Amino acid sequence: MKFFVDTADLGEIRSLAEAGMVDGVTTNPSIIAKTGRNFLDVVREICDLVPGPISAEVAATDYETMLKEGRLLAKLADNVCVKVPLTPAGLRVCRELSKEGTQVNVTLCFSAGQAILAAKAGATFVSPFVGRFDDISTEGMALIADIVQIYNNYPHFTTEVLVASVRHPVHVVQAAKLGADVVTMPPKVVRQMYEHPLTDKGLAAFIADWEKTGQSILGS
Ligand code: G3P
Repeated sequence: MKFFVDTADLGEIRSLAEAGMVDGVTTNPSIIAKTGRNFLDVVREICDLVPGPISAEVAATDYETMLKEGRLLAKLADNVCVKVPLTPAGLRVCRELSKEGTQVNVTLCFSAGQAILAAKAGATFVSPFVGRFDDISTEGMALIADIVQIYNNYPHFTTEVLVASVRHPVHVVQAAKLGADVVTMPPKVVRQMYEHPLTDKGLAAFIADWEKTGQSILGS
């Protein structure tokens, strides 16, 4: 299972990459807006930090402009993955860019039917949003189960299921149980995954007992 981080915070990306927990990065216009920085500069810097796919989203919604934006973004670095919305024009752009050898992440997927279209358009990744479904009292993970099952039925579908809008570690575990290829999550969720009170309690007891021995591994 691949871990992507859903952020444009370079400090967070660097720190999690050093821990070996970052296989790629996803951004969207809302995440970029939060940085207050130039979009292309931020994408270039993230691409230098992490060798895996870095999703950079187009801003236009019409086919011609989206295609131009996508081609420009793809030229920023070899690991740019152009993100397009799941619309008729977005999927047309996806088909074109994929044919050109560019990785494409089709975002804002909210139904299994949309995910089938993304696979047929040759998407590298499809991004179903689980948290936004949960927000409206609908089981977001049910969509992941459907898409994984459907894609498994058609081995010629090479599109990877990238679980997005992840809000907590339970989403990550559920996605893993379903066999999703990738989860993109805010850095906070990766950090939460390390935490368990029994780990802290157990470690405190081991440290206390070790001190009683008066030994030092490096000093002996
Ligand atoms: O980037 C797509 C997705 O992960 C956004 O998540 O939390 O805004 O629903 P969220």
